[in-house]
Amino acid sequence: MNSDLAEIQTAALAAIESAPDGQSLEQAKIDFLGKKGRLTAASGLMKTLPKEEKPAFGQSLNLVRGAITAALEEKGAALQEVADREAIAGIDVTLPGREIHSGGLHPLTRIKDDAIQILRRMGFALAEGPEIEDEFHCFDALNTPADHPARNEKDTFYFDSGKLLRTHTSSVQVRTMENQSPPVRIIAPGSAYRRDEIDATHLSVFNQLEGLYVAENVSLADLKGTLVYFFQELFGPDTELQFRPHFFPFTEPSFEIDIKLHIAGRAPKWIEVAGCGIVDPAVFSAISKSRGDEAFSPDKVTGFAFGMGLDRLAMIKWGIKDIRLLIENDTRFLKQFA
Ligand code: DAH
Repeated sequence: MNSDLAEIQTAALAAIESAPDGQSLEQAKIDFLGKKGRLTAASGLMKTLPKEEKPAFGQSLNLVRGAITAALEEKGAALQEVADREAIAGIDVTLPGREIHSGGLHPLTRIKDDAIQILRRMGFALAEGPEIEDEFHCFDALNTPADHPARNEKDTFYFDSGKLLRTHTSSVQVRTMENQSPPVRIIAPGSAYRRDEIDATHLSVFNQLEGLYVAENVSLADLKGTLVYFFQELFGPDTELQFRPHFFPFTEPSFEIDIKLHIAGRAPKWIEVAGCGIVDPAVFSAISKSRGDEAFSPDKVTGFAFGMGLDRLAMIKWGIKDIRLLIENDTRFLKQFA
């Protein structure tokens, strides 16, 4: 082999062998195989050789290039292995990975979503109203007189301004009728507030879902059909309901709805799940006065309304014994619903 080429090969292999890192290795590649590298320069000699020596020289060039390329690859792999080993030094690859926990929906969110879904299928649209209300929307327009116990400061949170935290979502009925024209078919899920002593079945803030359907000729049969269907969808097709006469200021006649609860090993018992009734004409009169028109005149429209506590529905559905569990954010409890 041409002695220049032999010398280049020896020098290249030495440089490659002694390269301490990837950067030096890259430099060695440039020095020998690059455009201005030594082997490239040596290949220029080809032109000066007599014709008969050219093939041998060419062959030597190829051999040297092959040897240098192979050495570069081998050294590159060796350096990479060292780098990899250093990168994971101190990491215990036998340690089990961190568990990834997936979240779940809160039981209140689930019951609310279920209720909304069932009622939307029946054509009820979502409506909302403010949690800070005035006495007109919370009480007066709902035919609840000034001396009604619900209006007492002992039962209701009042602000100095005279405003209050709504005691029920029924106020959304009023706001909707003030702003829409019949037919109206809405549901309003949301928070309600009462000055109750906190215990296993009471919180001072809880969740309700209000419903209202107003049109021409809405009857008690419509109310019953809607709510029987609703509760059988929510709790199962065998759910038994009873409509027990009751009093609410804003409906006449009014009922409480009970469902029959079967608990293993005990006699079945009726448990109250909602209030409902046929909208009292006095409510339509108040709306007509507030709107200044006859769109909701009690001579023209009728309607039904209902209201239920979502916390209680969740407690019944999943056998939750204490309402406080719903707000404590204890993951041991919440995990059961994920
Ligand atoms: N507002 C009632 C409550 O908080 C629930 C209720 C009863 C709503 C009868 C209604 C209804 O719309 O018709 O206890």
